[in-house]
Amino acid sequence: MPQLIAGNWKMHGLKAEAAALAQGVAAGAQGLGCELLVCPPALHVAAVAEILAGTPVAVGGQDCHQAEQGAHTGDVSAKMLRDVGASWVILGHSERRQNHGETDELIREKTQAAMAAGVTPIVCVGETAEQRAGGQETEVVGWQLAGSLPKPFDGVVAYEPVWAIGTGKTATEADVAQMHAFIREELVRQFGDAGMGIRILYGGSVKASNAAALLAVPHVGGALVGGASLKADEFLAIARAAKPD
Ligand code: 13P
Repeated sequence: MPQLIAGNWKMHGLKAEAAALAQGVAAGAQGLGCELLVCPPALHVAAVAEILAGTPVAVGGQDCHQAEQGAHTGDVSAKMLRDVGASWVILGHSERRQNHGETDELIREKTQAAMAAGVTPIVCVGETAEQRAGGQETEVVGWQLAGSLPKPFDGVVAYEPVWAIGTGKTATEADVAQMHAFIREELVRQFGDAGMGIRILYGGSVKASNAAALLAVPHVGGALVGGASLKADEFLAIARAAKPD
């Protein structure tokens, strides 16, 4: 399976900047050996999807509500994302777990809603610095996986250690190898053979200079990139570092 290189634009970019970034990514997207995905702020998903239609770059949301529709002020549903051209959605990002109080149970419901709408979920897990300092990182990630993934699960998992997000501190290759092997074991325990086919992305201060080393680690199925996805050249350089299929 090809590696997936996904850009999480978070809350960055006005309309013109989002369009320019999408065009820049599309301009270098031909002939890569990986899958490419960009996840703009919800407001820009429709416009970016129009720009990227017919290119190899897919579009995703950064969150969705667990219901298909209803009285949920300020939210968007997976069906709405799908309707405007998104085929992916990031769920349970640590910024949503922390800033919006999202629980594993809620993330599982959102994941189910995404799958039902035909939108592939990328479910994020990862420990905080305190949890790692206390030696609890695998326990925490194990609970997150058990609580956040519905059965069956048709999507991707992203391991994003909270302490590596936006800090410039990347997990070492050894940390990534150990955690990705643990996640693979947990996925197989939860889903049997199907657990072998679930891609596990690494995220947290991925950039062009460290991408090749991180993407070469066993059980790393791609990268979820924040800051470095806001520059088309840097994002494409990460994509070129992906392992060939
Ligand atoms: P950075 O690449 O900016 O560390 O962000 C990672 C992330 O949170 C992607 O979802």
